[in-house]
Amino acid sequence: MTNTEVEYNEIAIATAARLHDLRTAAAAARKKSDRPARTLDQMLPSFDKTALGVAAEWEQMGERLVSAELEAQAQALGARFEHLGVTLGTVIHDVDLTNRTDDLIAFIRATLLERKVIFFRDQNLSEDDQVAFGRCFGGLDAFPFGMPGENPYILEIHHGPRSPGFENGWHTDVTWMERPSLGSIAQLIEKPEVGGDTLFADSHAAYLGLPVDLRERVDHLTGVNDYRNFLAGYGGKPVPEEVAADIKASIPFGVTHPLVRTHPETGKQALYIHGGFLRHDSLADSRTGESLDPGESRAIVKRLLEQHARPEYGCRFAWEVGSIAFWDNRAVQHYAASDYYPHRRVLRRVTVSGDKPFHRSTGSADT
Ligand code: SIN
Repeated sequence: MTNTEVEYNEIAIATAARLHDLRTAAAAARKKSDRPARTLDQMLPSFDKTALGVAAEWEQMGERLVSAELEAQAQALGARFEHLGVTLGTVIHDVDLTNRTDDLIAFIRATLLERKVIFFRDQNLSEDDQVAFGRCFGGLDAFPFGMPGENPYILEIHHGPRSPGFENGWHTDVTWMERPSLGSIAQLIEKPEVGGDTLFADSHAAYLGLPVDLRERVDHLTGVNDYRNFLAGYGGKPVPEEVAADIKASIPFGVTHPLVRTHPETGKQALYIHGGFLRHDSLADSRTGESLDPGESRAIVKRLLEQHARPEYGCRFAWEVGSIAFWDNRAVQHYAASDYYPHRRVLRRVTVSGDKPFHRSTGSADT
């Protein structure tokens, strides 16, 4: 049957009115009965709990962007917040990172814990200053597989006509380490003419937004991470075998981490995964030590990697030269948009030392 445009619209309008009447009657009947109102979980389809993930994390945050204590600290320091996402991402304006008073560092640390990734504008720190800023938050981890700056704790990330950006997969940094870095502090040195934003996603919300049966399944899973991709040489020549053997002899190759990491400071659960370092067929049950069937292991990893990509979990940062991003690797994943080729983009990064990831269960379907 084919309708004319007029017939179609008459039918569509009448159908909408009829369905609206049905919904109104159902809502009135529900109101009259003693049935409790449906929860957000019940209102959402089983295959998409994204809204629940964000709402549950928002609830964990006390249903506000930042705590009153943090607002008071900002006011005392003359700093101003610009929030980029619902549960993560805040630009801290009107601070000078070369003037590192104890109060400023305590404020930055507290803001990082509440907002998971924070940003600063117009800092233009020298390499040594960026390293000194990083040291305010703990020891630093030098990076063995990239281009160091003049200061060996700086990693330079250069892209341009001969090296397109490849950090465009959702990840948390350096999961090949036994004690992966707590956080990363990056400064943009050269801005491409177009593009080059970095996206961040809330790993707590992403965890809470998994269907409950999958959440219960991954709560007790671990996976093995390694740095094989760095030895493969990223499209260039692979690292010579004898050099690779020396590296493997001194830096553990293949470390086991939980897929759901308990944040050591906030106690919140986070999805914890780097698709490039994790061996996708290596998942095992931490309670029994039993390995999963490789096919099931790969299917779970694929599903979890997709989870962070929902825009609701994220925020996006548009860099300027001298902008700084400081992200908590225990609470967020990031993704550098590779949309600026053939333009040059140069970033400098330092990483603050972290501790061994662990999972502490807080009950079924952990929150
Ligand atoms: C990274 O993945 O650490 C680099 C982030 C970026 O280039 O924006």
